[in-house]
Amino acid sequence: MTMLEVKNVSKSFGGVRANQDISLNVPEGSIIGLIGPNGSGKTTMFNSVVGYHPIDEGNIRFEGQEISKLRVPEIARLGMLRTFQQTRIYGEMNCMDNMRISAPDEGGGAGLRHLFSSVSAEIDEHAEELLDFVGLHSKRLLLAGNLSFGQQKLLEFAMALMRKPRLLMLDEPTAGINPTLINGLIDRLRRANSEFGITLFVIEHNMRVIMNLAEHIYCLAHGKMLAEGPPEEIQNDQRVVDAYLGAS
Ligand SMILES: Nc1ncnc2c1ncn2[C@@H]1O[C@H](COP(=O)(O)OP(=O)(O)O)[C@@H](O)[C@H]1O
Ligand SMILES: [Mg+2]
Repeated sequence: MTMLEVKNVSKSFGGVRANQDISLNVPEGSIIGLIGPNGSGKTTMFNSVVGYHPIDEGNIRFEGQEISKLRVPEIARLGMLRTFQQTRIYGEMNCMDNMRISAPDEGGGAGLRHLFSSVSAEIDEHAEELLDFVGLHSKRLLLAGNLSFGQQKLLEFAMALMRKPRLLMLDEPTAGINPTLINGLIDRLRRANSEFGITLFVIEHNMRVIMNLAEHIYCLAHGKMLAEGPPEEIQNDQRVVDAYLGAS
């Protein structure tokens, strides 16, 4: 079943046509990739989906519901969540506190109040489980700012899981991470999908990573959909190869 449907979406910034007539589908339970050279419009697509900015044309549906007029908090409440190219952790807080403030409050928003009121045992238990899941349990009382960059990415991933998303959109999750941690992160992403049932939509620059991870890949170039297909097709698609060569 289709979870997220993007249909004929266009978005411009002044004269820059960042997304032109983009259509794509993310089926429930899948891992879908979004690739393309720098500046091809990948992040813009994510921002449109999560309601960060209005789109100019087209439709975006989540489980059949039109969401293109909704804003970030409303869309988050539907169970859709994105991470950013830049990590967004609180370096002056320890890992557990970063996890606590990521726990949704009753309104569905992230709760800074979890820092000040007594945190339920349930939240702490879940936080510890997820820190263990990403391999950071032994670091749980360290300041997040003292973790390596790769570990901060893992923490950010654990923080996203804390919100119990149904669709998690990851913007270049492996950027800046060393190869050893990358393998661990890929493994965690797969397990989040298979064990927690989270649908994943992943922007990725590392070809090896996305070819291994995604079952279907969309490739943007110059704001347009250049190609789509299973990894084996995409990596042999001459248009895709040319787009990357042309960009380097
Ligand atoms: N908020 C914005 N204001 C103006 N231009 C933007 C904005 N966001 C993205 N763009 C432009 O849109 C194009 C696509 O950018 P982006 O979606 O970030 O590409 P990618 O994530 O594939 O590298 C680029 O030319 C970029 O400069
Ligand atoms: Mg980007």
